[in-house]
Amino acid sequence: MEKSSEVSGFYKKSMEERLKFIQEFACLTDEEVATIRNTGGLPVGTADKMIENVVGGLTLPMGIGVNFRINGKDILIPMVIEEPSVVAAASNAARMARVKGGFSADFSGPVMIAQVQLVDVDRPQEAKEKILARKNDILELAAKQDPILIQAGGGPKDLEVRVIETSMGPMVITHLLVDTRDAMGANAVNTMAEAVAPMIEQITGGRVLLRILSNLAVHRLARARAVFEREIIGGEAVVEGILNAWAFAEADPFRAATHNKGIMNGISSVVLATGNDTRAIEAGAHSYAARNGRYSSLTTYEKDADGNLVGSIEVPMAVGIVGGATKTHPVARIALKIMDIQSAAQLAQIIACVGLAQNFAALRALATEGIQRGHMGLHARNVAISAGAQGELVDKIAQQMVKERKVRADRAKELLAEYSNK
Ligand code: MEV
Repeated sequence: MEKSSEVSGFYKKSMEERLKFIQEFACLTDEEVATIRNTGGLPVGTADKMIENVVGGLTLPMGIGVNFRINGKDILIPMVIEEPSVVAAASNAARMARVKGGFSADFSGPVMIAQVQLVDVDRPQEAKEKILARKNDILELAAKQDPILIQAGGGPKDLEVRVIETSMGPMVITHLLVDTRDAMGANAVNTMAEAVAPMIEQITGGRVLLRILSNLAVHRLARARAVFEREIIGGEAVVEGILNAWAFAEADPFRAATHNKGIMNGISSVVLATGNDTRAIEAGAHSYAARNGRYSSLTTYEKDADGNLVGSIEVPMAVGIVGGATKTHPVARIALKIMDIQSAAQLAQIIACVGLAQNFAALRALATEGIQRGHMGLHARNVAISAGAQGELVDKIAQQMVKERKVRADRAKELLAEYSNK
């Protein structure tokens, strides 16, 4: 009989009942069920409340980015990621940046945009003016939605109105600019956008459709900068190589996608370690990278008067430290403690530094020996583990495969059989 994935009230079942259901459906062994059920550092009860239909968890390694000095302070940075080399590369770049004092960073402030879409407007410019004329009333109504945020010094600060041309005709888009303080702020700004919608309809006579935040958080920018001393990073040729690598990304979207992916290796791993929303940050970063009409690099590089390389990054960073998984996930809370984070602004700046460090490390490797040599060593360990190696054999098999330049599952199995028989 064909199995059905249609289950009514799956969410009402207990986690054990759900596990039993999927065990039967997918013919899982008891061992496999036990593996899924393990939620690592996240208590089962918390996991079960975090999302719907929970059956367990997936644990990823948390590595620590070392050597970071940011705005004059030494910081250890928890990074959660499945990809080898990332933590090592960031730490290595941070070690080189230390020579010239490490990273300096700043943050434009935690101002989030909520969009209210107005359609069916005959005279969009007139509607825009009418909305702007009632700015204070709209902001006041928005502010009423979140007294706690207001008490903390945040809340709606300003309003922008844009008229856009679309395939469905002109639309009038109102942006509420909301200071969300230490919260990521999605809930706060979405509530405000929904609350002011009827007032915008009444002012304009138009019809409001969408009321939702924008992840293109251009008023929430984290910036970081570091000077990499010429001789420390390998001399003039390496400086030139990195400048050329960056110019390639700056000019070519195909390269920029990969260049920025490397940046996100660093950024997303800290975002994830702190229980923040990786998709929000990624959407913001990539849309910011395309803000001038062509997708380009999030970083910039230049030479200083002494021939050193100066790297910088500017990226939207809508992270929080008080709500959602940041608060409920015990590991995320510990990650914040490791970094001694007191504010979302501080976290945003650290994340930008990691993005820059990651990018510098990737460009330096790519512009010199290529990344494969470093990658292969770590990749070989994973291949050895997948082939069943344990303990000391993992490194022994990995080293042998790298030496032979045969980092492959079949070779790992052969070596495992050979070494296990000794
Ligand atoms: C791999 O995860 C990231 C890199 O491809 C980034 C880059 O090419 O700049 C190495």
